[in-house]
Amino acid sequence: MLTPLGFSLLRQLSDGAFHSGEDLAATVGLTRARVSQLLKQAETAGLALERVRGRGYRLLATPDFLDVKEIRKALAALNVEVAPADAKAPLLPAANDDDLFAPGGVSTIPLHPAISVEVTDQVDSTSTELLRRAARRDIHGALLAAEWQTAGRGRRGRVWTAVAGGSLTFSLGWRFEQGAGYVAGLSLAVGVAVVRALEAEGLAGVELKWPNDLVHRHLKVGGILVEMNGDALGPSTVVVGVGLNIRLPQTVKRDIAQPVSDLAAVAGRGAPPIDRNKLLARLVSELAASLSQYAAQGFVPFAAEWQRRHAYQGKPVRLLLPDGEQVKGTVAGVDSTGALVLADGPRRSRFLAGEISLRRA
Ligand code: BTN
Repeated sequence: MLTPLGFSLLRQLSDGAFHSGEDLAATVGLTRARVSQLLKQAETAGLALERVRGRGYRLLATPDFLDVKEIRKALAALNVEVAPADAKAPLLPAANDDDLFAPGGVSTIPLHPAISVEVTDQVDSTSTELLRRAARRDIHGALLAAEWQTAGRGRRGRVWTAVAGGSLTFSLGWRFEQGAGYVAGLSLAVGVAVVRALEAEGLAGVELKWPNDLVHRHLKVGGILVEMNGDALGPSTVVVGVGLNIRLPQTVKRDIAQPVSDLAAVAGRGAPPIDRNKLLARLVSELAASLSQYAAQGFVPFAAEWQRRHAYQGKPVRLLLPDGEQVKGTVAGVDSTGALVLADGPRRSRFLAGEISLRRA
C-alpha cells in the first residue's frame, strides 16, 4: 500500500500527463532518488507507471482518488443539495443572537442543510478537525474526507487504522436543536444509514454489531464514532465519523488487534473495484436523510430496522463493562433510546453504549 507521501506524488500524476522527476521532487519537497523509490513502491502496490527518459513519469491507469468534483457530481445525481464549491462555512451565531430563533422560540437550524464537500490528502483526524472548526464555525452539513489520517481515532480511545487509497475515512458535521440525551441513539441510526448505503451500492451482507460496528461474517469492516458538544438542553453539534475498510493489505489486517475484513471481500471475487467517490456520495446521501429524520423523530423510526440488521439479535452474548465485569444474556433488542436490552431468563437489563463492548458468548 501507499505511504502518504507516495500518495501525494500519485495525486500529482493523476492527470495522466508526464511529470519530470525534478518537478515531482520539488512539489513534495524530496530528493529525486526518494521520488523514484516511492514510485517503485506504488508500482508494487499495483499501479501501472510508465517512465520515459527525458519526459519523466506518467500513470497508465488513473487510480480512484477521492475527488471533490466526482463526489459533488454523484451527490447531485442522488438529489442531494450541494453547497457552492467556494462557499465558506458561516461563523456561529452568537448565543444571544436574536436571529437564531424565529418567533415562538422555534430554532432555525435547517433540517436539510446543503452539503459542503471537502477532501484532503492528510489530516490528523477528520473528526478532530471538524470538532476544532465547530468551535468557531457552523459545521452543519460539512463533509470532510481524507485519504490519510495521521491520528485516526476509534471508539473507547482506540486508534483507527486506515490505509491511503484502501480505506474510506470521513466525518460529517450536523447540528441539532436538542441536547445530549436526545442524540444518545444517533450512532445506531447512523449504522442503519451506512448499511443502507452499502446495500444500495451492491455491497449486501454487512450487519451491525451493537452499538455501531459494521461487520461481515463477524469480521469488522467499518466503524462509527459519534461525538457531540453542546449542553443538555441543546442545541448540540455532532460530528459523525465513519471509517470503512475498502481493500486492506493482509499485512495491515494482521496488525489490527481485532479480526477484520474489507468491503472488497463483501463484494466478492471478480466484482468490479469499489468506486470510493460514488460510495462516499451514497453514504452522505443516506446519512443526510437519516440525520434529518433523527432530528425530527429521534431513534424510534430506526429501531425495528436496526434490530433486523443486528448480527446478534436473539443470540447469546457477553458484555464487557468498564469496571472489568462481564454480563451474560441473550440480546432481546434495543429500546427507544438505542440502549441494548439483554434478557437473562425473565429478567431484562438495559445497557447504554458508552464504554461497553459486546462479544459472542
Ligand atoms: C470504531 O469502530 O472504533 C469507530 C471508528 C471511527 C473511525 C472514523 S475514520 C473517520 C473519523 N475520523 C476519526 O479519527 N475517526 C472516525
